Amino acid sequence: MISGRGTNLRALIAACSADAFPAEIQIVISSHEEAPGLGVATAAGIPAVVIPHRDRRAFATAAQALLGEQQVELVCLAGFMRVLDANFVEAWRDRMVNIHPSLLPSFRGLHAQRQALAAGVRFAGCTVHFVRPELDSGPIIGQAVVPVHPDDNEDRLSARILEVEHRLYPYAVWLIAEGRVRVVADRVEIAGVRVPEMAVLNPQDILGDRLASIRG
Ligand code: GRF
Repeated sequence: MISGRGTNLRALIAACSADAFPAEIQIVISSHEEAPGLGVATAAGIPAVVIPHRDRRAFATAAQALLGEQQVELVCLAGFMRVLDANFVEAWRDRMVNIHPSLLPSFRGLHAQRQALAAGVRFAGCTVHFVRPELDSGPIIGQAVVPVHPDDNEDRLSARILEVEHRLYPYAVWLIAEGRVRVVADRVEIAGVRVPEMAVLNPQDILGDRLASIRG
């Protein structure tokens, strides 16, 4: 489900087009009739439907009917900019995922990248998570991290994050489609993933070397 330009949708379409990818996109629903993402869907031969989001309940009813008809098993929010009806969210509990351009639970809501810059964090990134009724919350499936550069502005940081969004989202969907992801006590467990041991410092060059020499 989209509302805008659809670059994450494009990344998901590209991933799903590989023969070995264990998922396919049945339908794209847009809350906005002028969303450029609709063109991304139709260019790929995927049925795309507009459900104008005038009323939360009416949107949920229409979306539910379409998803049922298409026998959809997983809903991916990809730049879907509306708050969903809480009953709809509950109906898709642990079967609906979202991508957000911050390392949640930091910087929920709009302009997450701007919020990160204002907070002066050294790392930013994105999160794929199962959706719960509260905005940008729910069990975290995966995150990708990028450094914040001293001369970053919102556009540059957003572009750096977007690049990793396009890698993280298909990866998270792949893990789910492989049946490796489960939610236990509202946290996500993933079977068979490797986690690197090392820590990363930012800024890393000088500080890293100095600390090493102090420590001997
Ligand atoms: C992305 O930054 C995503 O994290 C956020 O909305 C933006 C959508 O971009 N939820 P696009 O429409 O996928 O290009």
